[in-house]
Amino acid sequence: MSAGGLILGIESSCDETAAAVVRGDGEVLANIVASQMTLHADYGGVVPELASREHLRNIVPVVRAAMAEAGVSLADLDAIAVTEGPGLAGALLVGITYAKALAAGLGKPLIAVNHLEGHIHAVLMSASEMEGPLLALVVSGGHTHLYLAEQGNPDSGRTAPQLRYKNVGRTVDDAAGEAFDKVAKLLGLGYPGGPWMDALAAHANPRAVEFRFQPIKRRERMTSNPNPTHGDATAVNGAPDVVDGANFDFSFSGIKTAILRYTQTHGMKERIEARRARLAAALHAEPTLKPAAALRAMPALFDQQTLDLIASFQFAVVGNLLKQTFAAAEFYGARGVIVSGGVSANSELRRRFTEEAARRGLRVDFPSLAMSTDNAAMIAAAAWGKFAAREFAGDELVATPQLKLG
Ligand code: KG4
Ligand code: ZN
Repeated sequence: MSAGGLILGIESSCDETAAAVVRGDGEVLANIVASQMTLHADYGGVVPELASREHLRNIVPVVRAAMAEAGVSLADLDAIAVTEGPGLAGALLVGITYAKALAAGLGKPLIAVNHLEGHIHAVLMSASEMEGPLLALVVSGGHTHLYLAEQGNPDSGRTAPQLRYKNVGRTVDDAAGEAFDKVAKLLGLGYPGGPWMDALAAHANPRAVEFRFQPIKRRERMTSNPNPTHGDATAVNGAPDVVDGANFDFSFSGIKTAILRYTQTHGMKERIEARRARLAAALHAEPTLKPAAALRAMPALFDQQTLDLIASFQFAVVGNLLKQTFAAAEFYGARGVIVSGGVSANSELRRRFTEEAARRGLRVDFPSLAMSTDNAAMIAAAAWGKFAAREFAGDELVATPQLKLG
């Protein structure tokens, strides 16, 4: 592999059609993302059939835009990397079919990349050093996973790290990002909910409502405790407050139910419906309306009780992610922590993980904000170790919606 070598990365696992050109030394020459966010916003979640159709529409222009921005020609590429899974079958298929055809037509190698490994490389490509073992939290709309990552090939170096992964924890129900999105939806906020919750939480008291996570047994789904612990405190199912043995799993479906129950018992329904209607109209007129601007323009829509509920939810979820991640890091003797995926853009998460890592004398690294959510630069970056090891995909490559890592 020459430092000047070029990989075209293609990503289409969910609702972003993305293409990027990355050099072997980690330099990103182009990173184009066509988001379908506004398309799915009316449904409050990704509609698989619509996503596939939109990928079909976007894939050619997105790849062309990436090549043009990078200022290179297809003949200059050394390999084409594509997301194999996990993700939506029809959505993955669009990227894979296109990448296969392009690789075959150009006579270039094709590299299959696990989307979750891509998220991890979104951090490694900008981290100044990589001394393992590392504990990686991948936390997005579809995933909440903890991995122990170790250098698999000591000779592969920093620019083409090949890691070995062991899955040491995961959600037994909803992903953390999914919980952010579902709670935002039930409170009548915009889609995706994470950025709305993040921005609004900054204006409220995170200790107004206490949400507790109950111990869960590994691979078992528990029902949430219907009895508030005291006052306004509400018990939810989830990972234990005190780590029991080596259980580093998560559960986020209970806190969503607890929030719904809170809005019902506190008579918030009318306010929520008024907010939903008013915001839907505002977002229709201006689809890129940002949460902070909405709060400034329509302060009456965001009453303090709702803001406090949002801040309390975020405080609890981030606290649970933090507790499980650092407990696992300690248990496995990790030298550092990396956090990636859409939820790693959350400002409270970044602040509290940074404080906790400093307290424990550990490194913590995050991707740049642009690399936190789905993109193809991370797919190309994850492909470098495989390129160096000549791990190429053959004609038999298919979409693998449930692809596992570790
Ligand atoms: O990684 P990503 O783009 O797609 C998946 O692979 O799922 O992550 C999208 C998720 C959504 O659930 C979104 O609400 C969440 O990341 N998200 C956030 C923030 N920005 C995006 N969650 C909390 N705070 C944020 N600032
Ligand atoms: Zn993702």
